[in-house]
Amino acid sequence: MTALRCLSVAGLTAFYGASQVLFGIDLNVGEGQCMALLGRNGAGKSTTMKAIAGIIPSTATKMDLHGKNINGIPSYRIARAGLGFVPEDRQVFPEHSVEDNLTLAEKAGAQNRRDWTLQRVYDAFPLLVPLRTRLAGQLSGGEQQMLVIGRALMGNPTMLLLDEPSEGLAPVIVQQIAVQIKALRKAGTTILLAEQNMHFCLNVATHVAVIDKGKIVYADSVEGLRNNDDIKRRYLSV
Ligand SMILES: Nc1ncnc2c1ncn2[C@@H]1O[C@H](COP(=O)(O)OP(=O)(O)OP(=O)(O)O)[C@@H](O)[C@H]1O
Ligand SMILES: [Mg+2]
Repeated sequence: MTALRCLSVAGLTAFYGASQVLFGIDLNVGEGQCMALLGRNGAGKSTTMKAIAGIIPSTATKMDLHGKNINGIPSYRIARAGLGFVPEDRQVFPEHSVEDNLTLAEKAGAQNRRDWTLQRVYDAFPLLVPLRTRLAGQLSGGEQQMLVIGRALMGNPTMLLLDEPSEGLAPVIVQQIAVQIKALRKAGTTILLAEQNMHFCLNVATHVAVIDKGKIVYADSVEGLRNNDDIKRRYLSV
């Protein structure tokens, strides 16, 4: 059975000034899938995510979330349509407590969904519980990553874009984040995950798309990539 489309993108292009960075990206993520967007440094992963979230200007022939057009609409309305975005720079509000960072982000999702509460975020990331009064600027990188994922969940997204959540973190923390991403997917959140860490992706994703020089060069299930040494060698520095 084919999964219902959650995110459908076609012909996505983006420029920084005069320099073109995305050259017609096509991406289809089914409801409940976790798709890894894999590619080397500078391949265009973050730009793709920022364009989908409406944070940078882009053009596309199609950009639908749950069958509704999100092409060219402002980022706050894309968020309201159900898209949560966790950028790679993990910007917390440093002078606010962990709990304030979470409650400040509390919003109903699409169709007025309120599936996520403070308690549910703490259940998902129990390591945040003893840190609830700590200033977010004092957290470690791994703790901040959990906080920004939790903060995105407080907006009750139906789809989450996670930009390199494992980057620069200790293996033990990466492991915990992997467990949580899998749990989120099992609970019904659709995920698009940008990564350079192929082993992390093979562990958490159901599907993969490989991006190179601003184009999608391969899209398949995780099993397909696992068995494709040619793609791994050509595009993923393994
Ligand atoms: N603000 C910017 N201004 C100009 N060029 C940019 C800007 N941000 C990114 N680029 C360029 O766009 C291209 C794609 O960058 P992008 O950040 O999307 O790649 P990435 O796949 O996320 O890389 P990384 O793995 O290093 O995060 C790169 O050539 C990069 O140098
Ligand atoms: Mg990036």
